[in-house]
Amino acid sequence: MRMIYSMTDRLHPAVIGDDILYYAQCDVTCYVIRGERGDMLIDTGLPQIWGGMEKWLAGYDIRQVFLTHAHVDHDYNAAKLQRKGARILLSERDSTLRQNFLSQRLKPTIPKYAPRNVLMTIGGGLMRSPAYTADIFGKDRSLLRRMGYDADIVPLPGHTYGSCGVYSNGVLYCGDAFTALWKRPDICPNAVSPGLMRRSLERIVKLSPKMLACGHGLPLRFDEAYPVIEEYLRRTDKDGRLIR
Ligand SMILES: [Fe+2]
Repeated sequence: MRMIYSMTDRLHPAVIGDDILYYAQCDVTCYVIRGERGDMLIDTGLPQIWGGMEKWLAGYDIRQVFLTHAHVDHDYNAAKLQRKGARILLSERDSTLRQNFLSQRLKPTIPKYAPRNVLMTIGGGLMRSPAYTADIFGKDRSLLRRMGYDADIVPLPGHTYGSCGVYSNGVLYCGDAFTALWKRPDICPNAVSPGLMRRSLERIVKLSPKMLACGHGLPLRFDEAYPVIEEYLRRTDKDGRLIR
């Protein structure tokens, strides 16, 4: 893991903007959105970040945990947070992906990511999150508003079938629909459906958020991400295949 130290909004508020609350460690980033009746954590990270993240979360009142998708690096700590009283929110199309990574086989989105995809498939198949019970949501995009958040759910399928983002105050918390994993904006290296992922990237462009808060890497301005997305859309067909 390249980023074993943790980085939070409290350490670098001026760099990212103090309206994005995040905890980043081991290349995964989790976020908090504050609501009228408590706070919501977006994604839960890997076991090795739990100690630091738990301390960071002590400053919040986490009532809900929104999972952008049910991959192990996003839902591993969901069971612990559920035991602390949080409700876990997960899209119905990822409900069978919990503890069953191989139920949605990933493909590389760009040929150069094929070796990485093999490694991730092996790793994901071996690692299993502790079981948790989720409140499964369908097409209800205003669910979070009824829970007291100034936020809407944005379906972003492709990386997984159930991948969803949260849009709040100009920030799109996009999970793995896009990535800043390598400290620069990039197309997510794998997807269960590259064609669906491509359509989700078109949706992100249409939305044009001010900031993208990705599941890996620190938040970035959308104008930094846009040229990368635009080039990918130009170079691929509707099924996400490279045009030669
Ligand atoms: Fe993922």
